[in-house]
Amino acid sequence: MGDEVKKGLLGIVVDETTISQVMPDINSLTYRGYAVQDLCEKCSFEEVAYLVLNGDLPKKKELKKFKKQLEENRNITINLREIVKHMPKRSHPMDVTRTIVSVLGLEDKETNNNSPEANMKKAIRIFAKAPTAIAAFFRARKGKNVIPPKKNLSFSENFFYMCFGKVPNKEIVKAFDVSLILYAEHSFNVSTFTARTITSSLSDIHGAITGAIASLKGPLHGGANEEVMHMMNKIKKPENALKWINKTLDKKEVVMGFGHRVYKKGDSRVPTMEKYFKKVSKVKSDKKFIKIYEIVKKVMIDRKNIHPNVDYPTGPTYHLMGFDTDFFTPIFVISRITGWSAHIMEQHAANKLIRPLSKYSGPDHRKVMLLNQR
Ligand code: SDX
Repeated sequence: MGDEVKKGLLGIVVDETTISQVMPDINSLTYRGYAVQDLCEKCSFEEVAYLVLNGDLPKKKELKKFKKQLEENRNITINLREIVKHMPKRSHPMDVTRTIVSVLGLEDKETNNNSPEANMKKAIRIFAKAPTAIAAFFRARKGKNVIPPKKNLSFSENFFYMCFGKVPNKEIVKAFDVSLILYAEHSFNVSTFTARTITSSLSDIHGAITGAIASLKGPLHGGANEEVMHMMNKIKKPENALKWINKTLDKKEVVMGFGHRVYKKGDSRVPTMEKYFKKVSKVKSDKKFIKIYEIVKKVMIDRKNIHPNVDYPTGPTYHLMGFDTDFFTPIFVISRITGWSAHIMEQHAANKLIRPLSKYSGPDHRKVMLLNQR
């Protein structure tokens, strides 16, 4: 047994997957063989969610049935709504989101049924209900009335409606839809691998997604989109950006929204998200954030050759859409539930308990002395 430690499983291939492929050298990310850039331009988020979960793009009839299934499952119980309304107002929305999925697990009648059919139905219930509960907290913590989901609205339109009571113009909705497509799936990232590890003991999908949410909260992972906004707010205005970023690098600090374990020449999702960030900046006639964005990005690339990742353009885009900064990562969750669910089902379909080895570097074996001899 080789005992060379590969900290962080750096470069280690631990399993196969048919769900997505990241090819950093050619700046490519495909979901079930389709390039994300292509999916963003030609599909709605619901079509991509169906693709990630089922393995192929839906035909018209399949899409209609899927959207109806989602619509029928959007409502949450009065019990869950009351729990969300009574969560401490100062709770971090990612902790609330983690708790929401736990409660959904307590309420789901098929929690302990890990069959492919039951798992798909549970995945759809989590996918449909989580946005409703998250939007409920978005409003409840401000003392506002909770807005129930509305029929005949798309996934994205309905989320805006439940958060703000209205649907923004189609350019804003399209940009949000694109961000959800880009966030949906990304092979064995740490939260997905967390979900697969939990699943490998034959535990259930609610538990696996709860664990994945806890992992995604971390600033080195999904929590980075929130940290990007905190950085931009610290910079305040474009004329401060150059000095701020150089000072930060001089102090050897980590700049959130940059770098990636797999992409070393740039995250294949950034050009598309950047395009929609610029569209939203235009619609909102905001020039400040895009200017800060460009200055910081240029220094990171010129000085460190470190490129932006998907969280860098997404943060300011969500801010311009009106979302509270600490809700940016829960938005990542409502999309990534699709990728996590697909991986959980794939793990169940060809499971092997995940249990790596460790290299021991503690004290040598020694005898236990009785208390009065120590
Ligand atoms: C996501 O895995 C996925 O697919 C994740 C994700 C998905 O869709 O699921 O793509 C989503 O999580 C994107 C990443 C979001 N995280 C951040 O933006 C946080 C900031 N990024 C860094 O923490 C870092 O880039 C990581 C953690 C993302 C990746 O780092 P690695 O691969 O572990 O590499 P490393 O931290 O060892 O960095 C190598 C060098 C170091 O310098 P040295 O110590 O060798 O001198 O590059 C430097 C790092 O200091 N570096 C950075 C940096 N990222 C790397 N320096 C400053 N700022 C950064 N952002």
